[in-house]
Amino acid sequence: MRVDVVSIFPEYLAALDLSLVGKARTAGLLDLRVHDLRAWTDDRHRTVDDTPFGGGAGMVMRPDVWGRALDDVLDDGAHLVVPSPAGEVFTQRTAERLAGEEHLVVACGRYEGIDARVAEHYAGRVRVTELSLGDYVLNGGEVAALVVVEAVARLLPGVVGNPASLVEESHGAAGLLEYPVYTKPAEWAGHAVPDVLLSGHHARIERWRRDRALERTAERRPDLVAALDPAALDRHDVAL
Ligand code: ADE
Repeated sequence: MRVDVVSIFPEYLAALDLSLVGKARTAGLLDLRVHDLRAWTDDRHRTVDDTPFGGGAGMVMRPDVWGRALDDVLDDGAHLVVPSPAGEVFTQRTAERLAGEEHLVVACGRYEGIDARVAEHYAGRVRVTELSLGDYVLNGGEVAALVVVEAVARLLPGVVGNPASLVEESHGAAGLLEYPVYTKPAEWAGHAVPDVLLSGHHARIERWRRDRALERTAERRPDLVAALDPAALDRHDVAL
């Protein structure tokens, strides 16, 4: 997969050299290129923003600068992602959808955002998705770009060593939060690991994990329980 990120703070994306995403890049599974938006400015001050028409606080990113950048970076098969608190909420399903793309371009806005004509203009040429990380406001799209690239990259074949771990985790196929996990020592600070996990009884362990996942999800995220497909529940789940 190819991913281009355009930002006025390309250094922000340096974290994508690390860990699994960094390894995916080295292995050639992810071709990630980070660009400085100011490379497409045409004045001495390398201006990327201006005051909003209609008045109001803050600055808006200029469409002409973004237009030159995106004309260079976007090809017709690309999917343009624009992080914005006004976008649709980014979820594991969004990550799965984007992981099927060949080319993502992430346009990181700053200040009050990017002139609205930019998304409108490119929507006539490529798929454009405005994505929000959640109901809070960040200073710009860079943190969202990090989140989107990491969540998508780990779904690419070969990036996560054991693909089974993608199935069991929170927000995985079951639509539940993950069950609690434990490791050695079996007793720590007066807290013991649940006996069943030491029993070696696979079916019982699986049942226990499913119950804990359901319990946790009902407690912390009733919205996820409400969204579960009833057909995916078993007899024991319903009794819970
Ligand atoms: N830019 C500013 N706030 C944001 C948010 N919540 N999600 C994505 N991009 C943003």
